[in-house]
Amino acid sequence: MTKERDLILILDFGSQYTQLIARRIRELGIFSLVKPFNISARKIIELNPKGIVLSGGPNSVNFNKTLRPRKEVFNLNIPILGICYGMQLIAKEFGGTVVKSKKKEFGRSFFTITKKTNLFNKCINKGKHHGVWMSHADKVESLPNGFTVIGSSTNSKIAAICNNKLKIFGLQFHPEVTHTVIGKKILHNFINICECKKSWTAKSISKSLIEKAKEKIGKDKVILALSGGVDSSVVAAILSKAIGKQLTCIFIDTGLLRKNEVKEVKKITKSLKIQLKTIDASRTFLLRLRGVSDPEKKRKIIGKCFIDTFNKEASKIKNVKYLGQGTIYPDVIESSSKESKSDVIKSHHNVGGLPKNMKLELVEPIRDLFKDEVRKVGKQLGLPDNLIGRHPFPGPGLAVRILGEINHIKVKILQEVDYIYLQELSTHGFYKKIDQALSVLIPQKSVGVMGDKRQYGYVVAIRAVNTTDFMTATSTALPHKILNNISTRIINEVSGVARVVYDITSKPPGTIEWE
Ligand code: XMP
Repeated sequence: MTKERDLILILDFGSQYTQLIARRIRELGIFSLVKPFNISARKIIELNPKGIVLSGGPNSVNFNKTLRPRKEVFNLNIPILGICYGMQLIAKEFGGTVVKSKKKEFGRSFFTITKKTNLFNKCINKGKHHGVWMSHADKVESLPNGFTVIGSSTNSKIAAICNNKLKIFGLQFHPEVTHTVIGKKILHNFINICECKKSWTAKSISKSLIEKAKEKIGKDKVILALSGGVDSSVVAAILSKAIGKQLTCIFIDTGLLRKNEVKEVKKITKSLKIQLKTIDASRTFLLRLRGVSDPEKKRKIIGKCFIDTFNKEASKIKNVKYLGQGTIYPDVIESSSKESKSDVIKSHHNVGGLPKNMKLELVEPIRDLFKDEVRKVGKQLGLPDNLIGRHPFPGPGLAVRILGEINHIKVKILQEVDYIYLQELSTHGFYKKIDQALSVLIPQKSVGVMGDKRQYGYVVAIRAVNTTDFMTATSTALPHKILNNISTRIINEVSGVARVVYDITSKPPGTIEWE
């Protein structure tokens, strides 16, 4: 994918915004990749980018052991845009000086364009103050050789520089952050300076992913564990369009899925003509989980049981060469600020993970895509909206939402509760506004009065969070009226539940799941 389309390469110096730069550029229709700051010149030449962005980062260019790109990066004759730390690297490289700023600038600041340049096309008026996002402790004090100042900010006279001849630019502020109102225009202008042709659209991505998969797999067979979530479903759709019946999807019913999930997966795969094997392993899972209440033990048992079941089924299909996987780009991006190794895949929470001893080669068609791009490709390939917009669901399923020991009665209760909860959220237009909604069964009985009789039933907690990365989250402020409706329906319709509570804990200190 990298060679036949115009690429902007982002070198990562550890800024919290590096991924955002890649996303913004892709939103403008150009493919972009994040690579470690010290990637070799040979690799860069192989990637053949039309432009290079040097990201921000927490370091100072004046540290002895600071992060620097390979020297040759500046001699490749490719336009360069340095952002924050990236600009300071450029300044230092070309003989300017960088000093500790007396007044640091964090957050919103004001920027004035002082000289006309292509980078600021259609952003001007000269002399006007533009709101920009800053995050720096150092500043460029004296101009590097061959460069001109093109803008200043509240606290730094040299807040933007350029060398038009070399097509090298530096910005002290962050154009990738939405608070920088002219940010998108600036990135757009940089792309034009790089003479990039737009080619990154859902249609072109889908087409190219299908072609790539076809080319890689040839006449061989692929198996894929379908989870019912967005990523593996999109992979299934791509592979099925690429290789048709050479793909077999295996969907394991762990007995810990949401209500109707098996039916829905079958329906969708049927409509997309995807070959599916559904394995009902619910008895085995529940049997192995009997008497276990420690959350991590539960996870381990489920992980192992999943792999055993998958292995058994997969071994029935002969001459398989590839295992399909729904790895996506945020899982892959190297965190170069800490170390600059080659691609590291986070294994966090990956219960449906691959059986390592299968000796299958991996095919990961969506490895270069961000989540929103995965959704767009899914839509393009005909996956239904309700699947594409689905909240994340943990691999161990309802097992981590039933506190303590699990049995089929508790699973059934929680399935019904969860179904009503999500249905009410959708009906009232809240499902799409929430990033993850879930219900939890607390194995504690509480009293209630139903039809003049005292009854003891479980407590269930419902939870809704808003988050961008699931690393931090805030509780969604659902209107009381909606919460009342949900509670009434749950108590009336699900026998075995006596009380509904709403969890308002944010993350941190809480986690999203309860176990
Ligand atoms: P926590 O509870 O750690 O959740 O705040 C963050 C995100 O990860 C999901 N999650 C899991 N996903 N297996 C998974 O595949 C797991 O064991 C697991 N635990 C949590 C959780 O639903 C949320 O989206």
